[in-house]
Amino acid sequence: MQSFLKLISTFFIFLSYVENTFGGITSTFIRTQWPSVDIPLDNEVFAVPKGHNAPQQVHITQGDYDGKAVIISWVTSDEPGSSEVQYGTTMGKYDRSAEGKSTSYTFYKYKSGYIHRCLLDGLEYDTKYYYKVGSGGSSREFWFQTPPTIDPDASYKFGIIGDLGQTYNSLSTLQHYMVSGAQAVLFLGDLSYADRYKYNDIGLRWDTWGRFIEQSAAIQPWIWCAGNHEIEYMPYMEELDPFKSYLHRYPTPYLASKSTSPLWYAIRRASAHIIVLSSYSSFVKSTPQWMWLREEFKRVDREKTPWLIVLMHVPLYNSNDVHFMEGESMRAVFEKWFVRNRVDIVFAGHVHAYERSYRISNIQYNVSSGDRNPVPDKSAPLYITVGDGGNQEGLAGRFRDPQPDYSAFREASYGHSTLEIKNRTHAFYHWNRNDDGKKVETDSFILHNQYWVSSSRRRKLKKHCS
Ligand SMILES: [Fe+2]
Repeated sequence: MQSFLKLISTFFIFLSYVENTFGGITSTFIRTQWPSVDIPLDNEVFAVPKGHNAPQQVHITQGDYDGKAVIISWVTSDEPGSSEVQYGTTMGKYDRSAEGKSTSYTFYKYKSGYIHRCLLDGLEYDTKYYYKVGSGGSSREFWFQTPPTIDPDASYKFGIIGDLGQTYNSLSTLQHYMVSGAQAVLFLGDLSYADRYKYNDIGLRWDTWGRFIEQSAAIQPWIWCAGNHEIEYMPYMEELDPFKSYLHRYPTPYLASKSTSPLWYAIRRASAHIIVLSSYSSFVKSTPQWMWLREEFKRVDREKTPWLIVLMHVPLYNSNDVHFMEGESMRAVFEKWFVRNRVDIVFAGHVHAYERSYRISNIQYNVSSGDRNPVPDKSAPLYITVGDGGNQEGLAGRFRDPQPDYSAFREASYGHSTLEIKNRTHAFYHWNRNDDGKKVETDSFILHNQYWVSSSRRRKLKKHCS
């Protein structure tokens, strides 16, 4: 008990450091990297399941706004086969079924397998469902757990992964994530890095990535956000439709949040409202994404979902030499909305390193005001870059010197984060570095909710608890 209290007090001391103190840390940790090369095609992590037309690349994502539906996707390679999912709440007893549909696409001369997607809706909250895809001896069975009812005090643990790729470092990140106890992945864009290949190998590397992540993505939802490696605008092969592979393979429940594009949307899960943005789609005033976000912020109800989290690929605050200032145009458009709506955290990827900001804003700046520097702002989100999943491009090891005032902690290592929401007021946050073969909690703190622990709400909370 005594050690538990000591741990809690340490957390609180660290919290006040996180929120109030300036003077950032540049970690000096360096470890020998495993080579940033993709795992060979014949490695067991890419193994094709045995049996004629066996479903492969099985993955799930949330299928509605509030977490009572799941979209299940998979690929069959020999023939279309069935798009039906059988499911139920008892293992091996599938008393319900849903019918999906399948599609396929070509990319240069590559022809994809039959990509199935099937919506399971009307599910019960907080329930374990078993499901079966495929038929006969080639069928495969998995399970997933639905989230708790939408409730301000619902506890839930999210994992955060970005820029994953398919190297040995990617495998290390995935393996560490899978023992974290997190219940859903918030994925920050740049999935397979298949676009680093040419011609037909691009499609093949999307397939290997689908088989690689299945170990996690078939049993818990991955919430998708698109990055630059999903664009695949490749005129040299006459491939001119942006996001073609991504959109065919990784559906999102965008219609449920009244979005007009799978690239930006929102979901509510447990006590969190999660907004997914597209760094590579128009976002300036009056564009579809801008208009949608303006309306989505109006739908946020912090009394029901206190935790407001935004996902995007390009960070708005970054002090790495790589991709420096790339988020500036979106910052100029959206930052004032993030501050006004008291967003808790903005997660981004893109930069292959880890970085966390203080609560700062730069919304007073305009081209004539002259106030160029970000200032401490208690209403502002934390900006956290977790672009360190471990892909074949390697780490972004050069940070700008001196460390800017807005940067609280930065380290060029591979890893992933977890956000463990405890109730409406508190969450535990960890960034976990991949050390060789083990997971090391490197940046950890307790997070106060921006809505419920603002000064005006403290009285309300006191009244609620009494
Ligand atoms: Fe990227």
